[in-house]
Amino acid sequence: MAAPFLWGAATSAHQVEGNNVHSDWWAWEQRRPLRLRSGRAAEHYQRYVEDFALARRLGHNAHRLSLEWSRIQPARGVWNVAALAHYRAVLQELRKRGLTSFVTLHHFTNPLWLTQRGGWRSARTPVWYERYVARVVSHLGDLVDFWVTINEPMVYALESFWHKRWPPQRRSAREVWQVVYHLAQAHRRAYRVIHRAHPHASVGVAKHVIAYLTPRPVHNWWFNHAFFALTRGRHDFIGVNYYQAADRSDRRGPVSDIGWHIRPEGLTWALLEMRRYNVPLYVTENGLADAADAQRADFIRGHLRALEAAQAAGADVRGYFHWSLLDNFEWAKGFAPRFGLVAVDFRTMQRRVRPSALVYKAIIEQSQAV
Ligand code: BGC
Repeated sequence: MAAPFLWGAATSAHQVEGNNVHSDWWAWEQRRPLRLRSGRAAEHYQRYVEDFALARRLGHNAHRLSLEWSRIQPARGVWNVAALAHYRAVLQELRKRGLTSFVTLHHFTNPLWLTQRGGWRSARTPVWYERYVARVVSHLGDLVDFWVTINEPMVYALESFWHKRWPPQRRSAREVWQVVYHLAQAHRRAYRVIHRAHPHASVGVAKHVIAYLTPRPVHNWWFNHAFFALTRGRHDFIGVNYYQAADRSDRRGPVSDIGWHIRPEGLTWALLEMRRYNVPLYVTENGLADAADAQRADFIRGHLRALEAAQAAGADVRGYFHWSLLDNFEWAKGFAPRFGLVAVDFRTMQRRVRPSALVYKAIIEQSQAV
């Protein structure tokens, strides 16, 4: 029997866990205004049982989260057994609830000690990353269903080493290229280490794909394909994170709370663009900032229709993860953008299901009934 289509939502450690004190982001945030610091985030580190119960109640059969390298290895050569035990409990909880796990190993944040040694500009970092992955594989490997080695390598490289919006706020084309190259090496090393221990493992990346609805071949190659050119043959699946289309009509139509244009047809383009790699595709992120929940239900419907259109045109799409399960720390923008299917009151940490989450639930149930 074919595996069921995976339906879920995604989060990342730094954005929801709270008190991620050994990471480079945490150190950087301390110089920023209080409202732009991650602090307790959504306290997911303490509340994961409640949060997974919610996901299950909302009809999800899968969940994507990330492990925080800086918790697992807070200092060079120091492995935090308690953090590994925590993540074991987290993954066991997913399993117990029948949620298929997508586990990201690197989602933008780094251990501070690593950044102080050059971070991803350094040729030693892929080696350190491999040791971290090996540790994770030996402690948690039996509980992981799908491995996402790196989240959005191009976004990370450009935000941190070109646009100066994220730490370490540098601007150097040479460094961007170094970082992308080292991330690709890291991916290849992780791919090997995971497969050595688990020959049938599914290992991939979550790739931010920009839909160039007006063709821009050079941009398309560089942003969407360069990372795959460096990691050819090392992908059991591709995770597609889709948020933006680029075309001439960009300035019209609906936008989210943070001004991003809503272009569902770009998801069809993105999935068909990734079809050339001949591996299964999963939408590992797709969502919008919408505090009033005025647009989310239509957004979901529209993007799922676009996903179906890609399938009809031959793309092998096997899952969809909405970004995000919970309102969370939206990086340099702080807590104002609300991406959650579930709203979080950051004072009381109370969770409240948004109406669109129930629309998503109904769509999931309908698809499972046929
Ligand atoms: C990232 C998430 C982020 C989301 C919305 C993606 O690029 O992977 O961490 O919260 O976009 O900006």
